Amino acid sequence: MRTPKPCGPPLPTTDAYIYSRFSNPTVEEFTQRMSALEGAESGFATASGMSAIFGSFMAFLKAGDHLLSSASIFGSTHTVITKFLPKWNIQHSYFDLTKPETIEALIQPNTKMIFVETPSNPGLDLIDLELVAKIAKKHNVLLNVDNCFATPPSSGPSNWGQTWLRTRRPSGSTDRAAYWVVSYWAKRRW
Ligand SMILES: Cc1ncc(COP(=O)(O)O)c(C=O)c1O
Repeated sequence: MRTPKPCGPPLPTTDAYIYSRFSNPTVEEFTQRMSALEGAESGFATASGMSAIFGSFMAFLKAGDHLLSSASIFGSTHTVITKFLPKWNIQHSYFDLTKPETIEALIQPNTKMIFVETPSNPGLDLIDLELVAKIAKKHNVLLNVDNCFATPPSSGPSNWGQTWLRTRRPSGSTDRAAYWVVSYWAKRRW
């Protein structure tokens, strides 16, 4: 069997791996490889899609922020946005995924993130990601994409300046891993 070449900077070998729940070489390598595939600087691996989504909300949103989300989203994500986020005073509004022209008018001064699920589950609705990325960049808003069905090459580069979130299935429908990656632009902003 061919041994894959390590990508990214050399892995730390000493202090970093003191407790496997925090970090371990296997997860580190998975994250580095997925970030490289996505063209992102760094990322996080999680054991489920919902932890990736929740983690990205918790990392980038704070009390008083507004999240603008497409309405066609996975049911559990809808629950997190409508039932959990308000507990931390994070507001939200929804837009129609099939009407990207309505997005700009819904952006508020406190909008921190646009969240889209594309292709959506189960309707398989699509949105022009490049267009949404341009709108997000123009308004200095993060773009967070739940991209559960598509592969990195088929769904475009993450260097449009966004937090690019891919829930589970990096290689097939039985995968039980998920991850989200962070672009340089997102890291600079936060
Ligand atoms: C689009 C989408 N996002 C998120 C999730 C949640 O992923 P998980 O079940 O790994 O938490 C799913 C699960 O089917 C999904 O289809």
